[in-house]
Amino acid sequence: MDKIKRTKIRQLLDDGKVGVEICVKGWVRTKRASKNVAFVALNDGSGIRNVQVVLDTEKFDEEFVRKINTGTSLSVVGKLVESQGAGQSVELVAETIDILGEADPELFPLQPKKHSLEFLREIAHLRPRTNTFGAVLRVRHAMTYALHTFFHEKGFLNLHTPILTASDAEGAGETFKVTTFDLDNVPKDETGSIDFKQDFFEKETNLTVSGQLEGELAAMGVSEIYTFGPTFRAENSNTTRHLAEFWMVEPEMAFYDLEDTMDLAEEMLKYLVGYALKNCIEDLEFLEKRELDEEKTKPQNERNELSLLERLKFVNENDFVRLSYTEAIEILKRSKPNQKKKFQYLIDEWGADLQSEHERFLVEKHFKKPVILFDYPKEIKAFYMRQNDDDKTVGAMDVLFPGIGEIVGGSQREERKEKLEKRMAEMDIPAEELWWYLDTRKFGTVPHSGYGLGFERMIQFVTGMNNIRDVIPFPRTPGNCEF
Ligand code: 4AD
Ligand code: MG
Repeated sequence: MDKIKRTKIRQLLDDGKVGVEICVKGWVRTKRASKNVAFVALNDGSGIRNVQVVLDTEKFDEEFVRKINTGTSLSVVGKLVESQGAGQSVELVAETIDILGEADPELFPLQPKKHSLEFLREIAHLRPRTNTFGAVLRVRHAMTYALHTFFHEKGFLNLHTPILTASDAEGAGETFKVTTFDLDNVPKDETGSIDFKQDFFEKETNLTVSGQLEGELAAMGVSEIYTFGPTFRAENSNTTRHLAEFWMVEPEMAFYDLEDTMDLAEEMLKYLVGYALKNCIEDLEFLEKRELDEEKTKPQNERNELSLLERLKFVNENDFVRLSYTEAIEILKRSKPNQKKKFQYLIDEWGADLQSEHERFLVEKHFKKPVILFDYPKEIKAFYMRQNDDDKTVGAMDVLFPGIGEIVGGSQREERKEKLEKRMAEMDIPAEELWWYLDTRKFGTVPHSGYGLGFERMIQFVTGMNNIRDVIPFPRTPGNCEF
């Protein structure tokens, strides 16, 4: 007999024809067996819905049916029929079943019940078998596709910037070192310092914290680029919004000023949310329900005022508030949590760095809208940002989102060579190592700008997942590098 081609479960449920013989393959989510019949919910990750497979126990003996458990992988050939039961319109009546791989119910960690997200993180190799993680992975893919589409349609070039680099673009000193030295026997020079001349690249190197600097070089020739790659930061912050390895999207645009850049960031974020609403609705409805169930266990004041879909529509339909840092400080100084000393970090003067609690106050309590803050004090921002005429602030902008805080960080770049060099000297950024960066200001410099979107933070917003560890397949955080 000719082999029947596999149909994906999502396709079958969307437009499978009743009466036609088909083959599906997947993993058993649940099995219910009664006297004459067993029902198996099968899922292959193509969508959130399972197909119900019906086994006539006269055709399949008891011993065989007993081997089918949660986690077992099956190949099923059968005919699609209208379903008698509630919950699905069609089901698959099995004619032949091959067990591809058994899963011992005594040992398989995923039971047909709700597991905590913390527990699932410890079995990250099996997480993709769950409804929640399957939905997150599908949304994550959709957002990747939407990002490339958005920038492609605008004529941006996707630029592959290096992962191995000798620079620390953000100047925060949070890099992971890269070396081929034998760590038990590191070569030293005459002064007793590590002799990096003997290392692979003949200089000190690290994993990139941002593709921006290289992105700027390309934008200075092809005008508009974006990077989309992994970035690595050894910041020891164990929060629900920080990873040691995260993905960042960094557009860089020649001839854009700060306002153009805010416009682009707002348009991009709305495009992504709009794309998800249009193309991921089944997964989003599932995730919305998941969030509502989870919130039932939380006190009222910690629950979201809007449901997931309401939040997404809200962002999509409303203009973001644009506010200078200086105005934001005034609001924060006068705010109730500041007056009543409820903030962990009190705001008492201009120049204070904003913490997530302040960002979220502005977005969630004060404006109840996404906020773009701009013109930050130069002391709390990176060396490459364009210096404003007031000599105090730089042309930076951060987009703040409900439930997340900072989701995008960007700026207009300092394109004036002398000003850039002066600032680098003030901040102890080694100019001799960044000679290639400075060269773009030497030959045909132009005003330009760019920003970085934390991709996982965006996925958190779109899926409603609270912890950033649950929106990336293999989270890297302090103490965690398994799998
Ligand atoms: O604000 P950041 O540090 O900006 C830059 O890296 C610039 N070079 C971007 C640019 O202008 N091209 O990071 C940008 C965004 C943040 O807004 C945040 O969403 C995310 O990256 N991010 C992180 N996400 C997860 N884990 C971390 N440890 C993150 N650090 C930053
Ligand atoms: Mg930032």
